[in-house]
Amino acid sequence: MLISVSPNAETFHLRNRFFSYIMTVMENGQMENLYFGKAVHERPSFAYLHEEGLHGMSAFNAPEPSRLCLSFARQEYPSYGTSDFRCPAFEIEQRNGSRISAFKFRSYEIIPGKPSLAPLPAATMESDAEGETLILKLADDATDMTLYLFYTIYADLPILTRSAKFELNGGTPVTLTRALSMSLDLPDMAYEMMTFTGAWGRERSVRTRKLDHGVQANFSMRGSSSAEMNPFFILKRPETTEHQGEALGFNIVYSGSHLGQVECTSDGTTRVLTGIHPDNFSWRLTPGESFQTPEAILGYSGDGLNGLSRAFHDLIRTRIVRGVWRDRPRPILLNNWEATGMNFDEALILKIAEKAKDVGVELFVLDDGWFGARNDEHAGLGDWVANTDKLPGGIKGLSEKIEAMGLKFGLWIEPEMVNKDSDLYRAHPDWILSAPNRFQSHGRFQYVLDFSRKEVVDQVHSQIAKVIREAKISYIKWDSNRYITECYSNGSAPEDQGKTFHKHILGIYDLYTRLTTEFPEILFESCSSGGARYDLGMLCFAPQTWTSDNTDGYERQRIQYGTSYGYPLSSIGAHVSAVPNHQTGRLVPLSTRANVAYFGTFGYELDLNRLSADEIEKVKDQVKFMKANRELIHRGDFYRLISPFEGNETGWIVVGKDKKKALAGFYQCLNNANAGWLRFRLAGLDPNRKYRVALRVDVDPRYLAPFIPGLDRLLATLNQSAELYGDELMYAGLPLNRMLFVIQGCDFTSLLIELEAIE
Ligand code: DGJ
Repeated sequence: MLISVSPNAETFHLRNRFFSYIMTVMENGQMENLYFGKAVHERPSFAYLHEEGLHGMSAFNAPEPSRLCLSFARQEYPSYGTSDFRCPAFEIEQRNGSRISAFKFRSYEIIPGKPSLAPLPAATMESDAEGETLILKLADDATDMTLYLFYTIYADLPILTRSAKFELNGGTPVTLTRALSMSLDLPDMAYEMMTFTGAWGRERSVRTRKLDHGVQANFSMRGSSSAEMNPFFILKRPETTEHQGEALGFNIVYSGSHLGQVECTSDGTTRVLTGIHPDNFSWRLTPGESFQTPEAILGYSGDGLNGLSRAFHDLIRTRIVRGVWRDRPRPILLNNWEATGMNFDEALILKIAEKAKDVGVELFVLDDGWFGARNDEHAGLGDWVANTDKLPGGIKGLSEKIEAMGLKFGLWIEPEMVNKDSDLYRAHPDWILSAPNRFQSHGRFQYVLDFSRKEVVDQVHSQIAKVIREAKISYIKWDSNRYITECYSNGSAPEDQGKTFHKHILGIYDLYTRLTTEFPEILFESCSSGGARYDLGMLCFAPQTWTSDNTDGYERQRIQYGTSYGYPLSSIGAHVSAVPNHQTGRLVPLSTRANVAYFGTFGYELDLNRLSADEIEKVKDQVKFMKANRELIHRGDFYRLISPFEGNETGWIVVGKDKKKALAGFYQCLNNANAGWLRFRLAGLDPNRKYRVALRVDVDPRYLAPFIPGLDRLLATLNQSAELYGDELMYAGLPLNRMLFVIQGCDFTSLLIELEAIE
């Protein structure tokens, strides 16, 4: 039993072996949070955790002589204006102009498993035995509304999911002007907030700040989860490290504008809110209608930040990602974007694909430029018909030729967008999101189709489904290359414009649902100018995300390291690209480019015909290596070891669930003269097992002449493998001679350490 209810049916204790979440009904009928943290024993009453006291300048929300001041109560889903002066979880504008509401506990229900939130995507369960859901029913009599609060606890994951649903039963219409997915009040503020911020090309940088009085927010108002502030954030204790201590993680299963907000009061408490950003949101309800919020995901770790990441990785890998590709080995792909841009024809594509086949690549992906008048960024989006000047046999013909080579074929699309120079726009100029009589802001010369309108989704769906039905397509890269401006739907009434942002996101989910249902065998990879829409909503449909357009093997260490806090390696699209790197101009050795990309879903983003014979041999070896290790990498437990945000080095390791195999990566930015040894301390291994340890280092042949004293001995050790216990590797660490980086002949070097248990 995961959910206990007190004898008076007013206190609820959700508990698994990781955490306890306890709440109760307050004297005014509203819900109070008593505890969220490491699992504690069940007991008949937790009333002692209720704190109430005398506070000057307070107002009280229960009949005299009550001292219930909501400003000091830790509430489950608070409103504003009835003695709580903090930011609320919801707000309802009523016909009489009032925004006051008070939802009082009425009843509860505990159900096995987890109800669907469709059409919103949400975390799943494969069987009802995996967890339980508590549904609290609250009512606000003055508005004739019901509020349902959903809490799902998994038996075997340190994860709690939450959402809220508002129903207007009768009376007069109301408007929700704020409806967040969850609120969590914590009794102190001794936390640091970690956010994952950035921009195009430098997504998910790790930022850590101490909480302070007032509001600190992590948000997007871009109509997308955004490259600027990913919806995932963490509250950790100051003493928490990667390997120990308490941390709470928050995310939402949503791809639109979001708000994650942490408010600390001057008396030292913390309120965490997350959900749809309230700006530009208002949802009018008429009697009989309801509004369901997206799902919030709360993770708890008593084992440091790596423990928190593993909680989210396990949930995402097994219960967010779904479909046949959840558990299949991910194909090694080659994408032509950095090789050709939009400037290609069938002969060139076939030449690139042939070489890819030669080295062992499994999937060829044709990127942007194959359709309509798409020869540059100004035209073509919206017309999903192959350009037969470039591809005489269309996508059907090309895909058949690629398949005949023994490769699978993948295709790029950007279904939510349109260029004005397109047949679609010329036929339906009112189908873009744009406000009447206002300038229409453009981005990459394109406009956002109004997916809040079903007829628009229908039209795009029919075009894209036709291409897929006719051709042999195994993979789709779904791109989205601008944020939303002038979010106004020309298909909605003025009083419903506050729904447009959210309805647009529901339209995207609708198209994804239709395509993934009709084509269940296709592997989808989401993309948004790189990683500008890396979120749990997308991962419900697309198991992989193109992590960043920045493919520089050095900067990618930071991007993938930051991404790994909230998202598993099996979702991190990572490719080896050409040098000089297109985004940074940097020359990172081929070995390091691959050593970074292995820790994701691996592929190439270049024309292999331009590599030397020696490089091609290395690429063949890389492909073979990834094929042999991808199951370990995509299903194992990942541990961050050394942060690239803190110094010259990066380190990480992935360890199989059974701890029999592991693969560690070590990366050094700049080489140093006369540098000594370093100890690379690993994690996650079985301390009592002995492992065979083998280094994988790409030595520059110029160093094979032994002009460095002792080099011959060092090189000889590279071919030997050590046998060491897990405890030695984790606590004493693996001694690495820094000459291992010098003999790679440049900066931005790296090495891999393969571990295999031998007893
Ligand atoms: C942005 C993506 O991130 C790139 O990989 C590529 O697909 C381009 N769009 C194509 O326009």
